[in-house]
Amino acid sequence: MPLQVAVLASGHGSNLQALLDAFREPAAPARIALVISNKAGAGALDRARRSGVATATIAEDGQDAAGLLALLAQHGIALVVLAGYLKKIPNAVVAAFRGRMLNVHPALLPSFGGAGMYGRRVHEAVLASGARITGVTVHLVDEQYDHGRILAQWPVPVRPGDTADALAARVLEAEHRLLPAVVGAFARCGAEPLCSLAAEAFGPAPSLQPDFADALTIA
Ligand code: GRF
Repeated sequence: MPLQVAVLASGHGSNLQALLDAFREPAAPARIALVISNKAGAGALDRARRSGVATATIAEDGQDAAGLLALLAQHGIALVVLAGYLKKIPNAVVAAFRGRMLNVHPALLPSFGGAGMYGRRVHEAVLASGARITGVTVHLVDEQYDHGRILAQWPVPVRPGDTADALAARVLEAEHRLLPAVVGAFARCGAEPLCSLAAEAFGPAPSLQPDFADALTIA
């Protein structure tokens, strides 16, 4: 029985699409069973409908804990993934899904994270700092923004002349690889062993290697 996964998204949903594509096959270790958004017009909901996945819209502030827990129970959800979801998860939901809720963040936490650090702002802050390496983080969700235990990270080089949009696009490419790999590994073996499997599961992605070497040369 594949692991039943719910994805929460507030926007475009390209990370959701990467998950839908990765777990489309019936024999996949995970199944995207529900997509929830706090924005009725979110592109993520359209992607879910096109894939025949159940959808639900919750209040814009996302603070109805009982309603959210009821939705997740109704669909037999075992793992929750936050993919571009911009609202804080109520503490009661975090507690009910402790160790079973993941978030993807477009920077190498603990840097460039926290309240207000989302979307373009993250990449603008990375560029303003002069950092030469940024990346992606997938972490367990706790009661604080972008704070829970880090499960996996992947480096992405910052290139001379990068704009925030160019950097965001390069980081998003890495997100689309890392997030499905983490969810797949989680579905196969759960959170605890996941950390040791992380490096094995991902393997150096050829397309990222040259970039990384690039960044080292420039630094
Ligand atoms: C991604 O960069 C994600 O890391 C961040 O918000 C963006 C959402 O992109 N939290 P999408 O909606 O998945 O395309």
